[in-house]
Amino acid sequence: MASAVELPPSLRRVLQSAERVVVLTGAGISAESGVPTFRDAQTGLWSNYRAEDLATPAAFLARPRLVWDWYVFRRSLTERASPNQGHLALARLAELFADFTLLTQNVDGLHQRAGQPEVIELHGNLYETRCFDEGRVVTGVLDDGSSPPRCPDCGGLLRPAVVWFGESLPAAALAKAERAARASQVFFSIGTSSLVQPAAGLAGLAKGQGALLIEINPTATPLTPHADHVFSGPAGQVLPQLVQQIEAFRG
Ligand code: OAD
Repeated sequence: MASAVELPPSLRRVLQSAERVVVLTGAGISAESGVPTFRDAQTGLWSNYRAEDLATPAAFLARPRLVWDWYVFRRSLTERASPNQGHLALARLAELFADFTLLTQNVDGLHQRAGQPEVIELHGNLYETRCFDEGRVVTGVLDDGSSPPRCPDCGGLLRPAVVWFGESLPAAALAKAERAARASQVFFSIGTSSLVQPAAGLAGLAKGQGALLIEINPTATPLTPHADHVFSGPAGQVLPQLVQQIEAFRG
């Protein structure tokens, strides 16, 4: 069990009157659900696989079956996982502020399964597919026995509807995220290495407009020196304690 987490008085004061709160999550929020992160040594996906072999359009064109099957494997991991105390605490936090935005880089759907009212997915979703040629999103995962399955409209290859290296983020999601970050009074960066742009830049946008910046992560990141408060521990242990204290004066 992590040591007790105390809300510092300066953060408490801001949270007492704040209305616009933004949370950005990364793979670390799902680590305690048993979903591997990307960059943690030993357990991170990118410690065991090469991103350029599995998460780029060129990799998919070269070896569509390998790439498709890797995402089938990742879906099987997340299907077996359940939301943890961190996801659940964030769903409660959303109810305490008039204007609350949850941004995630995760594609695992665990925030939604925790009851989060609205989630802006910056890197797509493991549970949707897209036509590789035409880009059209096909809801749900088609399984026609082939790997990858074929687009029901044009017969082209279907791909997971996630963002790969070298691709742009969904424009509407990114625009909403930037707007929310700029307008935020408090910005939480949780379980992300803050290395992948443009998501990593959102905290800077928020802070540049005067937001208080809070980081929750057991390990220091490039964001750590810029954060106003750092809670150095696992999100599944830190968040329930923080949210309980916030509920006591905002609930
Ligand atoms: P990373 O794997 O880069 O970083 C995970 C972060 O979570 C690290 O900073 C860990 O210290 C932290 N962490 C681990 N366990 C934690 C816990 N229990 N509580 C809180 N934090 C914990 O994952 P992301 O930052 O999400 O993109 O990676 C960003 C993007 O890079 C991903 O969305 C993915 C990846 O390549 C694409 O695939 C496009």
